[in-house]
Amino acid sequence: DGLVPVITIDGPTASGKGTVAHGVARRLGFAVLDSGALYRLTALASLRRGIVATDEQAVAAVAEALDVRFDGGHIYLEGHEAGHDIRQEQVGNFASQVAAFGSVRQALLARQRAFRRPPGLVADGRDMGTVVFPDAVLKVFLVADVNARAERRRKQLMEKGISAKLQDLLRDMRERDARDTQRAVAPLAPAADAHTLDSSRMTAQETVQAIMELWQAKAKAEA
Ligand code: CDP
Ligand code: CDP
Repeated sequence: DGLVPVITIDGPTASGKGTVAHGVARRLGFAVLDSGALYRLTALASLRRGIVATDEQAVAAVAEALDVRFDGGHIYLEGHEAGHDIRQEQVGNFASQVAAFGSVRQALLARQRAFRRPPGLVADGRDMGTVVFPDAVLKVFLVADVNARAERRRKQLMEKGISAKLQDLLRDMRERDARDTQRAVAPLAPAADAHTLDSSRMTAQETVQAIMELWQAKAKAEA
């Protein structure tokens, strides 16, 4: 397992992790792990059972028994396509609340590590480099200033026909940032050996390129 290379991309919301992870994975022929989707799936399954976000034990039991399948860009929860439903705001909020529970994080740990398979994996989230894959060959901490991130999110929503006020997005983003960085268990933070990349003024393509260069430099150094 330790021989299968992992590239981790951690960072705050809308820093471009998902987009860039897919770009890098495509270039290398690697698999991808969208760890946030697992937290969102746990949230969706809990909401459907009428569980509240403060009930740690019940949510952890849901995470433990989660019946999910990732298949060619589609996500299935209990056999039904759930890729659209997990993107709802209510689901994201529930996910970010229960992500603070140690037992929920523990329940999802083995499931995340199971994504590691040859020829390699690109994993994005908050604690990929610090907790889930501490032995990753390349760790990237992807940041962008909050204004750039809010603007990106606004555009992304606009493309889906949803209009949102920049002020509201900024407020929600600061709240989510605070919750992710201040929690006691696996807070959002760069691993000691992570490369911090500021993409505020970079396109997704340029960011993918920058990570490919880090990867190539690493391969060269090891050869
Ligand atoms: O909403 P956003 O796109 O920022 O987040 P996401 O990546 O879809 O993840 C949803 C929530 O799960 C985040 O707000 C985090 O609190 C949590 N999460 C986490 O704690 N650890 C991860 N590795 C990934 C997500
Ligand atoms: O996964 P995360 O929440 O970190 O971000 P994302 O969903 O990959 O990216 C949020 C939005 O920003 C997407 O619409 C990306 O296309 C866009 N983006 C960008 O405009 N510039 C970048 N350098 C990276 C992403």
